[in-house]
Amino acid sequence: MSTSGTDRTKNAKLLAWVDEIAALVKPNEVYWCDGSEEEYDRMCQLLVDGGTFIKLNPEKRPNSYLARSHPSDVARVEERTFICSENEVDAGPTNNWMAPAEMRGILKERFDGCMKGRTMYVIPFSMGPLGSPIAYIGVQITDSPYVVVNQRIMTRMGQQVLDTLGDDDFIPCVHSVGAPLEPGQADVPWPCEGDISNKYIVHYPETREIWSYGSGYGGNALLGKKCLALRIACTMARDEGWLAEHMLILGLESPEGEKTYVAAAFPSACGKTNLAMIVPPEGFEGWKAWTVGDDIAWIKPGPDGTLRAINPEYGFFGVCPGTAYDSNPMAMETLKKGNCIFTNTVLTDDGDVWWEGMDGPPPAHGIDWKGNDWTPDSETPGAHPNSRFTAPAGQCPTIDPSWEDPAGVPISAFLFGGRLSKTFPLVYESFDWNHGVFMASTMGSEATAAAIGQAAMRRDPFAMLPFMGYHMGDYWKHWLSFGNRSDLKLPKIFRTNWFRKDADGKFIWPGYGENMRVLKWVVDRVRGRVDAAESPFGLMPKHEDITWTGLEFTRDQFLSITDINKDGATAEAEEIKGHFAKFGDRLPPELEDERQKFADRVGKAPDVWSLAG
Ligand code: GTP
Ligand code: SPV
Ligand code: MN
Repeated sequence: MSTSGTDRTKNAKLLAWVDEIAALVKPNEVYWCDGSEEEYDRMCQLLVDGGTFIKLNPEKRPNSYLARSHPSDVARVEERTFICSENEVDAGPTNNWMAPAEMRGILKERFDGCMKGRTMYVIPFSMGPLGSPIAYIGVQITDSPYVVVNQRIMTRMGQQVLDTLGDDDFIPCVHSVGAPLEPGQADVPWPCEGDISNKYIVHYPETREIWSYGSGYGGNALLGKKCLALRIACTMARDEGWLAEHMLILGLESPEGEKTYVAAAFPSACGKTNLAMIVPPEGFEGWKAWTVGDDIAWIKPGPDGTLRAINPEYGFFGVCPGTAYDSNPMAMETLKKGNCIFTNTVLTDDGDVWWEGMDGPPPAHGIDWKGNDWTPDSETPGAHPNSRFTAPAGQCPTIDPSWEDPAGVPISAFLFGGRLSKTFPLVYESFDWNHGVFMASTMGSEATAAAIGQAAMRRDPFAMLPFMGYHMGDYWKHWLSFGNRSDLKLPKIFRTNWFRKDADGKFIWPGYGENMRVLKWVVDRVRGRVDAAESPFGLMPKHEDITWTGLEFTRDQFLSITDINKDGATAEAEEIKGHFAKFGDRLPPELEDERQKFADRVGKAPDVWSLAG
């Protein structure tokens, strides 16, 4: 099945690079992916034959497969993710750093012969619509056929990309699962490097290169996603005056046909996919919500001064558990159309997939993500908490007609939100741009508590903590710089929090589709249709300015998720001091100013600030 690169491209740099990597990793053969359906089917069959894939029941899940990863290889490895800039200070305090020369030495050893006994695949891919001026082309080398088929769903991939690339430059991405085969050695269904300290997810931001070793899962291995479209792209964005963000993109269309686009940054597993596919609830007859993207947004100033966003991806890599007709019907419909890959879910006896939180009763029996018999009485979950679906974005029933428009969609509002059980109100708007950047730079989310009832906030500025390609302080400065540009029509900035809890630890706000009520207020603010109440945190909706039709939610309940406890807010202003201290002299002074102003507002506030007055 070996193919020759010279039949595919005349790009001298690409051909030389592929030869150079092949000489290092020493594969059995080199295969250039053409991206065809025939190739996809053939590789899926190869994965079935090798035991990596199980073909699902075609009546329930047409053209779909289940994979089970090695139990040690189930998520991104942040502790093994490196930003290798020449100077340590440029990686900033939030990243692991190593000198490029030292890292290159280590990787050379790791990659030497690492594809022995395997095929080396060459995957040309485009992040963004092919040929679009805002797209970037990468070429990923990998020894994982699982990665190849996932990349065909997640990116525009294959020969057309090489044709579009021509002699231009590309971002080189080298990936190996780190499991060479000796002659005669049998392969395993999910090869990977078992020792976590031998895994490396490496970025050289200055030379725009990605090297990933030892893992076959998700963002560790699908290098177009977090590695290229966020860590490398945010560095390019800083240099070129645009933004690469961990954001969903959503279009809201009123019954009159007025369309407003918002982009929202929530940390991983905080509901971007849910919000991206929101279905307007009762009370919003005639409204439509359109999905542009569920994870990453590239945002560039357009000729008219609006910020224009594209989704650089071509598919969704979404969390399975909790996805249901109840919580996310559009995701369920997307999956129902088939052509999906499921990783680490339950396999049911009738050849379907299942996960915790799916609608209806669990199956009486199935095979869990580790390949063992499973019943609802089993002590461990059937699906891994980070089990995921890979699904073509074009299959989503609410996919926006403009989702592949190279010009992008105009963004009117940025939303930033995390999981916060107390203190933080349902929604508030920034007083101005700098205040909005302050709100995003201080956002955080509660990790599942180690101690019961204890909620510790992990600061995750802009939901970019794991995806930052340079110094976080410089990134804030870059965001602040947009505020000084008079040529731009800047979006309004909001913080949201769907996760306030009552004394019994239950979520107060119903969330999901009901979040539309908050989005409608955001749209009204953007359009200048309603005024707002001034709180110590920011501008907040008055009860009467939210559409309540179709929802039983009392005014008192609303007040209970919008009030501000002075002690909590005072502690927040103090904690931010410590958070900001980590950024030293690269903390933009504007943000400390904003902190002071916040502390002053809180200082003047009553013990409990309330919209009730
Ligand atoms: P990544 O793909 O990891 O970047 O994450 P994501 O932001 O797309 O998150 P994901 O869709 O996996 O988050 C889903 C989680 O958020 C599930 O636990 C949901 O139950 C929860 N969730 C989503 N929306 C809401 C909401 O409105 N209210 C509440 N309480 N939970 C929500
Ligand atoms: C995330 O962790 O934010 C993801 C999944 O979207 S992964 O692609 O694995 O990073
Ligand atoms: Mn994500």
